[in-house]
Amino acid sequence: MHHFHYAGQNLHCESVDLAEVARLYGTPTYVYSAATIADNYQRLSNSLKGLDVRVCYAVKANSNLAVIRHLSNLGSSFDFASAGEMRRVVAAGGSVRTSVFAGVGKTETEIRLALEAGIASFHVESEPELARINHVAGKLGLKAAIAIRVNPDVDANTHAKITTGTSANKFGIPIRQAAAAYEAASKYPNISIQGVQTHIGSQITEVAPFVRTLEKLAPLAAELKERYRISYISIGGGIGVVYKDALASGAAAWWDAQPEGTRPLTPEAYGAALAPALRKLALKVLVEPGRSMVANSGVLITRVEYLKRGQGKNFLIVDAAMNDLVRPAMYDSYHEIVPLHRDTTRRALVADVVGPVCENTDTFARDRQIQEVGEGEYVALMSAGAYGHVMASRYNTRPLPAEVLVRGSSFEQVTARETFEQMIANEKIPAFLK
Ligand code: LLP
Repeated sequence: MHHFHYAGQNLHCESVDLAEVARLYGTPTYVYSAATIADNYQRLSNSLKGLDVRVCYAVKANSNLAVIRHLSNLGSSFDFASAGEMRRVVAAGGSVRTSVFAGVGKTETEIRLALEAGIASFHVESEPELARINHVAGKLGLKAAIAIRVNPDVDANTHAKITTGTSANKFGIPIRQAAAAYEAASKYPNISIQGVQTHIGSQITEVAPFVRTLEKLAPLAAELKERYRISYISIGGGIGVVYKDALASGAAAWWDAQPEGTRPLTPEAYGAALAPALRKLALKVLVEPGRSMVANSGVLITRVEYLKRGQGKNFLIVDAAMNDLVRPAMYDSYHEIVPLHRDTTRRALVADVVGPVCENTDTFARDRQIQEVGEGEYVALMSAGAYGHVMASRYNTRPLPAEVLVRGSSFEQVTARETFEQMIANEKIPAFLK
């Protein structure tokens, strides 16, 4: 459920007319709904009620300082993929002491910074990383808390580019080698074994892969509890969201109308399926949701520049491009596209919705049926709150887009659109060319 809806003919985010945002801040601009993020956070927390749960929001999904602060205010801890993300959490006033550090390539500097900031635990992805963490902790005279990321060899049944839990992926230590890796970890003087972790992929829309993973991991977790007194299990992130019917899925009625057995994964179904096995383990439970906290809380609003009528094909050319939202180009992902001003008297148009970048992959949608819109009007790409702005680039020397956060009838720009001067600020012409 989310808080984007038409009030009258205009698309609103909570009580704010998105046309007003476009007029004030220009386009392309990401707009986020604080109420939607809060709902997502509460629903997931509630679904695991009764367990000792800590939500560690995966910062990589949307690392805007305002989003981090909002989640921190709601009680969230964080999952970092880099020291940069950790520093964002510090800058936003979030807690590092209850947060965890993931990733296959942590550098010595990152490990040191995290230890100095009092990180709760490192999620270790290889034996050499264990040795490195031990070494850095030793130099600082500290003990580093760790959990090993175990690769359970479970296919998450999602897009190949975001599957991480099979033996073909670079992530984690294979479950068969896990006991040996823990044994090795227990010998390091500056390592304190605290938990076990897994994450099998992203945009997982059924509960079965999560259940299978927990079935595989639970015996190991129980053994580790026995042997090393681990205190927690982290079950990662990965909960999928609705992209196809994004706008309609804002309403509870849409969910009720989905036939039993085909209903997309909800936080409630996720919690209900996993809670019994987790309860038996009697460990603290960490969850690391990224997408499911923020995807449906955000849209990318963009202006129509041209409607180009080609031979048997129409192109709706908008001012957002693959550099602003790369997911369609990178993962063939679907984002629903809706007009900011709905007019049911207009004809439908079938068009490719494209950006101005000189690449065929700069295509948000192919042969998409949408309401006819023309130059100067606006459309919104739905479900763009996760892996949107964070994956934006400056390709074609296009500035990083603006971001706006809405709460009720209030809204503020939380990232200004980049200027040309900022884009070239770190570049220089070398002396030998002068
Ligand atoms: N924990 C770990 C260790 C992760 O690697 C990730 C995401 C998460 C948690 C959060 O997963 P989520 O709840 O967001 O599925 N850029 C891709 C998604 C990449 C996900 C990377 N890891 C996309 O746009 O689909």
